Amino acid sequence: MTGHEDGYTDGYTDGYKYGYEDGYQVRPETPGDAAAAERMAYEAFGDDPLIPELIRRLRSAGAPLPPLGFVAVAGELVVGHVLLSHGRLDAPRELVDVYTLSPLAVASDHQRRGLGGRLVATALAAADAAGVPLVFLEGAPDYYGRLGFERASAFGFRSPSLRIPDPAFQVRRLRAYAPWMTGTHVYAQTFWDLDCVGLRDPAI
Ligand SMILES: CC(C)(COP(=O)(O)OP(=O)(O)OC[C@H]1O[C@@H](n2cnc3c(N)ncnc32)[C@H](O)[C@@H]1OP(=O)(O)O)[C@@H](O)C(=O)NCCC(=O)NCCS
Repeated sequence: MTGHEDGYTDGYTDGYKYGYEDGYQVRPETPGDAAAAERMAYEAFGDDPLIPELIRRLRSAGAPLPPLGFVAVAGELVVGHVLLSHGRLDAPRELVDVYTLSPLAVASDHQRRGLGGRLVATALAAADAAGVPLVFLEGAPDYYGRLGFERASAFGFRSPSLRIPDPAFQVRRLRAYAPWMTGTHVYAQTFWDLDCVGLRDPAI
């Protein structure tokens, strides 16, 4: 595990490559995986039609950083998927291109075997290799905290929506991160078009 002067560690580079541990392979998605990945994610999110729509639109949106998708496969079967898409950090000095990690899904029959963690680790390694400084997400801090994500507000980052609970707004700082990178995380337009930013609780 490699240390960093700003405190993060890049342990995701230790042992996470496109391996076949446990009969599963985690690898970059190909066009041939697309439909199966969307269907699997739809089911993992409780038959939510927004999820495959979000994946499709993020994949096809023109953006300064290319979308990066990864799948977990058991033989020919797609059992996990994660997508990184372009976002921005509105920093005082300049706009910074960052990635947003969303959505992440593992088929229910294949959960709790470390596939979610391996997908996230593989995505982070790819973002780091591309020289991207930051990966943001909205999610369960207990889950993503184990994968090296930290509460983003602790580093001067501001959430894109007041509806995101502070602990759920999380960041992973990568090697290209520098402390001047503070400011508001701005989601890609696709997330707004589909109303996929923040929890929209009808009771509020
Ligand atoms: C979240 C998800 C991707 C995890 O996939 P996975 O392959 O089971 O993840 P891992 O095997 O790496 O980790 C499993 C562990 O995470 C825990 N976990 C899963 N979801 C969690 C959550 N929301 N909060 C806290 N812990 C969670 C599991 O209980 C399990 O804990 P254990 O190891 O102590 O038993 C999967 O449950 C899923 O697809 N859920 C539906 C879609 C979803 O919610 N996506 C995330 C959106 S932010």
